[in-house]
Amino acid sequence: MSQQRSSRQDPPHLVVLSGAGISAESGIQTFRASDGLWENHAVRDVATPEGFKRDPALVLRFYDQRRRQVRKAKPNSAHQALAALEQEGFRVSIVTQNIDDLHERAGSRHVLHLHGEILMARSSVDERLRYPLTKGGIALGDLCDKGSQLRPDVVWFGEAVPYYMDACEIVAGADLLLVVGTSLAVMPAAMLLECAPSGIDTLLVDPQAKQLAPYGVTAISKPAGQGVPELVSLWRREKRLWVPDFA
Ligand code: APR
Repeated sequence: MSQQRSSRQDPPHLVVLSGAGISAESGIQTFRASDGLWENHAVRDVATPEGFKRDPALVLRFYDQRRRQVRKAKPNSAHQALAALEQEGFRVSIVTQNIDDLHERAGSRHVLHLHGEILMARSSVDERLRYPLTKGGIALGDLCDKGSQLRPDVVWFGEAVPYYMDACEIVAGADLLLVVGTSLAVMPAAMLLECAPSGIDTLLVDPQAKQLAPYGVTAISKPAGQGVPELVSLWRREKRLWVPDFA
């Protein structure tokens, strides 16, 4: 079954919601795989504003390690397939919960980072003051233009998700929604499915898809590196977005 929401002259619009699972095959550990610990740290110590207040040096060190890991990682076949689909002329918008830049490095040009970007620093008093981290990390004493300590530009637990409404608008323009590698456990990201136009198809590619897929979502229980390229090659061949039988 396929749904075409674009008008005849518009290319079909695929909206992708990606989570940690899409980067797992690039060697970046998912959060839930580590059972509430993140690289041996309690989440409340390294991924909350309170943790940063308590021990900023620990938090900065923690994100410096994550940043080094991201810089070493390479996009995998799932990131690459989505970029290739865009190059083929499809409209592809990606809303990612990931703070890595693997979608961009694969070549995707429309990527919204719901939970921020690890390769950016930001002011701890004004979230609009953001600075690219082209090399190195953030040290205690590194200050923003307003004189406050820099912090990673990531959305921590307990913080507002500033681009949620933009993400909802993108999802509302989808002809087909492809969810990849997310446990759909973190709000408000999980609520984005509700923004999709009624009647469009939604697919979930995740090894746990059968257990995770909400009602009405087609489950493809495969790793992203396999499931996403398979779908993309079918879509490229037929030049339309549709749900194949193997789903
Ligand atoms: N391919 C696809 N999915 C995979 C793969 C893979 N190779 N390996 C694991 N997964 C799936 C898991 O089955 C799980 O459903 O990836 C999902 C990862 O879930 P989470 O770790 O909960 O990641 P995510 O949903 O992105 O978490 C949301 O929580 O850690 C915080 O803010 C952080 O953005 C993150 C948010």
